[in-house]
Amino acid sequence: MTAPREQWRSQFGFLLAAVGSAIGLGNIWRFSYLAHEHGGGAFLIPYLVALLTAGIPLLILEFAIGHERIGSAPLAYAKLNRRWEWLGWWAVTFVMFGIVLYYSVVIAWCLNFFVLSFDLGWGDDPNAYFFQTFLDVSDSPAALGEIRTPILAALVVVWAVSWAVVWRGVQRGIELANRILMPTLLVLTIVLVGWALTLDGAAEGLRAYVTPDFTKLGNPQVWIDAYSQIFFTLSLGFGIMIAYASYLPEKANLTGNAYLTAFINSGYSLFAGVGVFAVLGFMAQSEGKPIAEVVSQSIGLAFVAYPRAISLMPGGNLFGAVFFLCLVVAGLSSAISIMEAFVSALVDKFGFRRKPLVTLISVLGFLGSIVFTTRAGLLWLDIVDHFVTHYGLVVVGILECFVVGWLFRLPQLRAHINRVSRFSLGPWWDWLIKFFVPLVLIVILVGDLYRELREPYGGYSWTALILIGRDWLLITLAAAFVLACRPWRTTQMTTAGRSEAR
Ligand code: PHE
Repeated sequence: MTAPREQWRSQFGFLLAAVGSAIGLGNIWRFSYLAHEHGGGAFLIPYLVALLTAGIPLLILEFAIGHERIGSAPLAYAKLNRRWEWLGWWAVTFVMFGIVLYYSVVIAWCLNFFVLSFDLGWGDDPNAYFFQTFLDVSDSPAALGEIRTPILAALVVVWAVSWAVVWRGVQRGIELANRILMPTLLVLTIVLVGWALTLDGAAEGLRAYVTPDFTKLGNPQVWIDAYSQIFFTLSLGFGIMIAYASYLPEKANLTGNAYLTAFINSGYSLFAGVGVFAVLGFMAQSEGKPIAEVVSQSIGLAFVAYPRAISLMPGGNLFGAVFFLCLVVAGLSSAISIMEAFVSALVDKFGFRRKPLVTLISVLGFLGSIVFTTRAGLLWLDIVDHFVTHYGLVVVGILECFVVGWLFRLPQLRAHINRVSRFSLGPWWDWLIKFFVPLVLIVILVGDLYRELREPYGGYSWTALILIGRDWLLITLAAAFVLACRPWRTTQMTTAGRSEAR
């Protein structure tokens, strides 16, 4: 028995949901940090090149397979080529039982810091507060230590919200949530950036953000980081965009929506970067230090550098509340998209009813996240994130291009895209998917492996890296094979793709 497929109420709803998935925690701090580190304004060159040559083509590909094959990732892959169903399962499994488990914990930290903002609860030394008081980080990943209760409490809220949204389904849950969350995020961000620009020293910060240092562009790492950032920020290789596109009606402007999603997402990053650097400029001036000294990597930026700045600012508590609320909102819409990718895969294959399934998955997800709320949570998070995003994501991307580009009829897919979309794609797209994108991903993979083998990532022990990082990938891979081998309990596999059905 196969129930009729759910659908977005409008294409705009779909666009908001895709943007909601793309804009996440990574847009606010990861992008700003990378831009600063890699030549300021000059970083825009590799970033935009990566967007145009790999991000957009792959986003169009994911929209197209979800839409043309009418299915979530495992179903879509199975309908492209029976033998590759496991690839779809692997993507949605390591995302659901990898990324979202720690991503939800970071959202929980943001929620804690949102509350702390009101009375600047981090005190005079935000660095010590974050690492010693709040996380109470242990010495090694093996020393789990106790669960941090404030984090656990916030985590319950995060999972409860995600549960409620996904439980309500595509239109009344995900679409509605994004119709509320996205405009809220936009308003909050405008307030934040506008406010940041009025701070003393903001101009200095902006100068550090945009001053181009073209010499950095000679370093291959800058290019690798630009491509990796584009894949992560567009939520590619996770099966999310495939599932979202499968809920589109027959006539859907695939290319137009892909261009819009990509430009809105990158535009948001650039804009948020203005706010981030204005604040860093303010801090450099108040503390009489050069900008380079106040900039810190990702986590440190949001939970250490920002709280310091907030404490120094007039009306800082409100500013802090808005900033952390932005992170919570941006993060939630991404977490929701991950859960939907997994839920929709199970519904497609096994015909489960959505509501009980979502409840079960949310409980399991919540339980799985708990390990990241222990004293070793930050260490686990760092390792799992490194392996999942550097290897899982990249390998899925390479194989995705291979399956669609080499085992399936790419021109047929392009003909479908051109039939339904407003902007047509030329044969250049086939070329990018068949050769260029996989090549770039292979270069990234080899570069990462090379560095990995030369020295253990992040100074962790090999045992921890293997047991936590590598095995996380292998276990999810094994689970993917098991799921792929189960028989289909729905008739989904018998429905033809849209090009054949005509
Ligand atoms: N695109 C999101 C960001 O930039 C990250 C994300 C990862 C979203 C995985 C969904 C799934 O933060």
